[in-house]
Amino acid sequence: MKVVLRIGGSVLGSPPSAKTVNDYAEAISDLNHEGHSVGVVVGGGAIAREYIKSASQMGLSPYQQDTVAIHASRLNARLVAMKLGGVSSVPTSIDGILQRLARNRVAVMGGLKPGITTDTVAAMVAERWRADILVKASDQNGIFTADPRLNKNARKLDKITYEKMKQILGGAHRPGIHSIVDPVAVDRLTASRTRLIVFNGADAKGVLKAVHGERIGTVVS
Ligand code: UTP
Repeated sequence: MKVVLRIGGSVLGSPPSAKTVNDYAEAISDLNHEGHSVGVVVGGGAIAREYIKSASQMGLSPYQQDTVAIHASRLNARLVAMKLGGVSSVPTSIDGILQRLARNRVAVMGGLKPGITTDTVAAMVAERWRADILVKASDQNGIFTADPRLNKNARKLDKITYEKMKQILGGAHRPGIHSIVDPVAVDRLTASRTRLIVFNGADAKGVLKAVHGERIGTVVS
């Protein structure tokens, strides 16, 4: 299968935890050994948001705030890429990661352009690569009826449609947005009908479960 794995910056830690990066590298290598190809898209996490805060306090524009955050995600992506095989740079375009995926069973990138998050980057890679599945390792157990951090009565959903996801998570981008799936990605995934699984990435082995079709997180199809 062609698998796009989106690793939330909030899952990696800020700065990234060595154990978490190593666990993800092992899970990705397991997938490769099973014959799957993996396009990995890594987020910037709390450090990205701290840069956004400083940039905002400095009076820089939302475009400039996004731009500094993108660099944080690329730094995290580089760390993950190094662990996977020592590459010295990460692609900064969708064409770039697709070229690497045409040659290798794994390739890693971070952010792409202002106005989105790496959720949208992952959705774009999945669309262009015609991936079988997009798996998002998140800091939540899946998609809830409402934001569980704000609403105690929110209930986790096991399986939903694209339309339901849009109803729960639709909206507009803002720098540093911390949504389970960002609103631009929601629109793209709905249009491309990419199968999505969002799960709690605290245990990297969840990626294998998601790809193997075991019950985990929330499935959007
Ligand atoms: P990330 O996608 O790096 O977030 O976007 P994350 O840390 O992994 O998020 P979680 O763990 O899913 O919550 C962080 C910010 O970086 C900018 C945006 O401001 C975004 O909110 N960004 C990131 C972009 O502008 N463009 C990109 O392509 C990526």
